[in-house]
Amino acid sequence: MQCIAVINQKGGVGKTTTTVNLSAALAQMGYRVLMLDMDPQANLTVHVDKRPDLESHTMTSLLVEDEPLADLVQPTATERLFVVPSDTSLAGVEQVLANRIGRETILREALEAFPQAQEFDFVLFDCPPSLGVLSANALVAADRVLIPMQAQYLSLQGMAKLVEVIQLVQKRLNPALQIGCVLPCMVDARTNLSTEVLREIDTHFGPLLARSRIRNNVKLAEAPSFGRTIFEHAADSNGARDYEAFAAEFAAMVGAAPPREAVAAPVTAPAPEAAAAEDLPAEEPVPAEPAVDALPQDGTQSGTGSDDAAYEAGA
Ligand SMILES: Nc1ncnc2c1ncn2[C@@H]1O[C@H](COP(=O)(O)OP(=O)(O)O)[C@@H](O)[C@H]1O
Ligand SMILES: [Mg+2]
Repeated sequence: MQCIAVINQKGGVGKTTTTVNLSAALAQMGYRVLMLDMDPQANLTVHVDKRPDLESHTMTSLLVEDEPLADLVQPTATERLFVVPSDTSLAGVEQVLANRIGRETILREALEAFPQAQEFDFVLFDCPPSLGVLSANALVAADRVLIPMQAQYLSLQGMAKLVEVIQLVQKRLNPALQIGCVLPCMVDARTNLSTEVLREIDTHFGPLLARSRIRNNVKLAEAPSFGRTIFEHAADSNGARDYEAFAAEFAAMVGAAPPREAVAAPVTAPAPEAAAAEDLPAEEPVPAEPAVDALPQDGTQSGTGSDDAAYEAGA
């Protein structure tokens, strides 16, 4: 079992989109994947067609009430893909745990006590846009960090802080933690801006920069409001292809053994010419609303927007 924290304290950079669609792509390859929604905004929960307002067994139950992980895991519409939902009550967890000793290791202990752990090849944590107790739990429980980054001006802002927090966790709580890779999301190769930003990310992260790129793709932006992964929503889109390619790169990078369940044919078709039409120009803002982050501000947050729109549409 490989545990991956999908993290970036900036909002709207592609964490949730990456968690859902990388997980779905890995599940299609034959891996068994569990996603944990660690964000009180519950975007991931909605993205896989669950209703946060109706869920009573969520990440909050695990972190605050010590409910065993096994009681929280739910199947999704995708075979081999499972989820532990979140709901808005998770926003209060930072405060509830503020004075609790060992608050950063709750998730790691829950995973260690999870009898089905070995049935899963990957567990992905979709982190909130902040570096508080929730993100700390993810970093302490993770083997690797995956940092989605928007290929946009100022996207490197805040990276020093994130790397500092990762190093602190490595030093104090989880020496085995590695930065897996940095994944450029919402890339528009047609603009010089994206190219320049990618060069800048490369200078900063060098070998940690993924070879794959996730292009700007309107199908990826639409999928959450239908409660579907990109493979259910538009299997022949560039978004589906990009996440499939990244999943293959990612599985190789973490040295994953071949999937236990053999899966027949690749799911998406080869690139049709017309697919380019779904790419959004980088200047055209992706449907997003200003961040309404319910978490108490800890001074490290730099959320710039997220998809409450998707939340409302799906809720
Ligand atoms: N490659 C992409 N192309 C177009 N829209 C995207 C892409 N990736 C994410 N989005 C959209 O951008 C918004 C923010 O993405 P999201 O994954 O929710 O970011 P985060 O979880 O980091 O806040 C969402 O509305 C999402 O649907
Ligand atoms: Mg998110």
